[in-house]
Amino acid sequence: MCGIVGYIGYRQAQPVLLNCLSKLEYRGYDSCGIAVNNGHLRGFKDAVRVEALKAELPSLEGSLGIGHTRWATHGKPTAINAHPHFDCTGKVAVVHNGIISNFEELRLHLLKEGHTFVSDTDTEVIPHLIEKYYQGDPIGAFQTALTRLEGSFAIAVLFEKYDKLLVSRRESPLVVGIGDNETVIASDVPALLEYVDNVIYLEDGDTAVISKDGVLIEQNGAAADRTVHHVNWDRSKVEKNGYDHFLIKEIHEQPDVIKDSLSGFFGSQEEEKDSLIDSNLSGLTMLGCGTSYNACLVGKYIFEELLGIPVRVESASEFMQRGRIISSPVVIGLTQSGETADVLLSLKRLKKPQVKILVITNVPGSTASRIADQVIYTAAGPEMSVAASKSYMAQLIELFKMAFTSKLLDTATRERLLKEFRSLNVIVQRVLETEREIAECANILARSSTAFYVGRGINYPTALEGALKLKEISYIHAEGYAAGELKHGPLALLDEKTPVVALVTPEEVYGSMVSTVKEIKARGSPVIALADERDDSIASIADFVIKLPHTSGIFAPVVNVVALQLLAYYAAKFRGCPIDFPRNLAKSVTVV
Ligand code: M6R
Repeated sequence: MCGIVGYIGYRQAQPVLLNCLSKLEYRGYDSCGIAVNNGHLRGFKDAVRVEALKAELPSLEGSLGIGHTRWATHGKPTAINAHPHFDCTGKVAVVHNGIISNFEELRLHLLKEGHTFVSDTDTEVIPHLIEKYYQGDPIGAFQTALTRLEGSFAIAVLFEKYDKLLVSRRESPLVVGIGDNETVIASDVPALLEYVDNVIYLEDGDTAVISKDGVLIEQNGAAADRTVHHVNWDRSKVEKNGYDHFLIKEIHEQPDVIKDSLSGFFGSQEEEKDSLIDSNLSGLTMLGCGTSYNACLVGKYIFEELLGIPVRVESASEFMQRGRIISSPVVIGLTQSGETADVLLSLKRLKKPQVKILVITNVPGSTASRIADQVIYTAAGPEMSVAASKSYMAQLIELFKMAFTSKLLDTATRERLLKEFRSLNVIVQRVLETEREIAECANILARSSTAFYVGRGINYPTALEGALKLKEISYIHAEGYAAGELKHGPLALLDEKTPVVALVTPEEVYGSMVSTVKEIKARGSPVIALADERDDSIASIADFVIKLPHTSGIFAPVVNVVALQLLAYYAAKFRGCPIDFPRNLAKSVTVV
């Protein structure tokens, strides 16, 4: 759960590495460092953010280099534990993302052989192993060292007096960006976009030797041909473009995300499609983590309500721990990054000839997309904020699209809902226009140390997502709860210091939500209600009302979540939190 980068080409490596690292800080930002090779190998690292490292760095001349931004797993976030790590001679520099699971055993062997370790990291065994096997052939030493490593890794290596960059990956992501007379490698595509449009996603077990003349990829000792993908992501999406934070920019991008997701959809949805959820499907399993898990929960409501298919939703981090795996014939994995280790392991365990795996991901070529039998790419574009917003929206839209193209949906319902579906971008834009009112309500949350989010039916997952957003960026404790469950325990926690955000949208659950709000008010808790603009009565019960555009109940998750994202954003802003980089979190969780 770190970010690695590497550069070889005609530019000075140092500014390129630092620029790429700053785009990878969502993967970790405890500490960072770079090493540059111009015949002589020089490294510099510290327990600071990339911006601060820039200020500290001396000029390291050279057009070949590697860099790392860290999210600590083995060893505290200190300058010594920061990458790059070196061998005893200082002639091999390594950056690594992943976990070397047999590092203790390797370290003991290497210590016995006289190697000196300076850090507490698992990574440091790698340069020492390379040193051990080096007999004048850097590639041979690198490849032999790789055979000794267990666990997950994406690694980049520099050798003094050697003008090539050596990289390899197993389970952790690694992308090779191919430019004109330059190559940039990174853990993720957004880091590369300023320099290249064409990328190769290395496969598990690939090793690449990168020189000024090009890239040679090998797998098990044989040359491997890998597809070059053209990335058409908009580069401006990896800049803040005048917004204070990536998160608020990405929240505001959601109308466009909906438009992009629907581009080409209308007119084509009537066509015969080979859909995995049409053919006599007896059941569906959906899995994901965090926000993607919450999107799965919304998917359950959509598919069960509209298509009548039984859907089981699993949190991938739990599912992969199971002894016995019971699968449905179709599994849908949701993952923005396509690299979440818990999701990947679950999908790998589920992969059998009789099970079809559909992955919905935002990252072309990501590991999850390569495990899948079928892939749907979300149209969110690069998401830089650790807290997911627009990628969740894009996932919801894809789930709706699947339901609307299914032959299991009756024509009348389809036609009624498609009219609204078509204008969801405009509806979401109207939610964004209530930003100021939402910011005022956020003030109440910002002054509290705990909050509840409650909803029923299809709004229950949105309550979970709203609470998750608040927790992760404002550090306020928040519980998302099924409104009907409050009286089975948590009601005991409610008092005048515990605000409750209640999702009081119309249709079936309206009456029971009003009863819940009354129950909460009887305990003295301030209630912030999210309500339909046509609802004139809720204001007499709730303390604050955020009025939202009217939609059919099935689309309530789309509308409500935008308001909850804004609520969390402003609460975090009032509290002065580092919104794009919440403590202890990284965007892609590539460890289990
Ligand atoms: O990349 P993924 O969608 O698989 O990531 C899953 C979670 O780590 C992610 O959704 C996380 O919960 C977000 N930071 C929440 O905002």
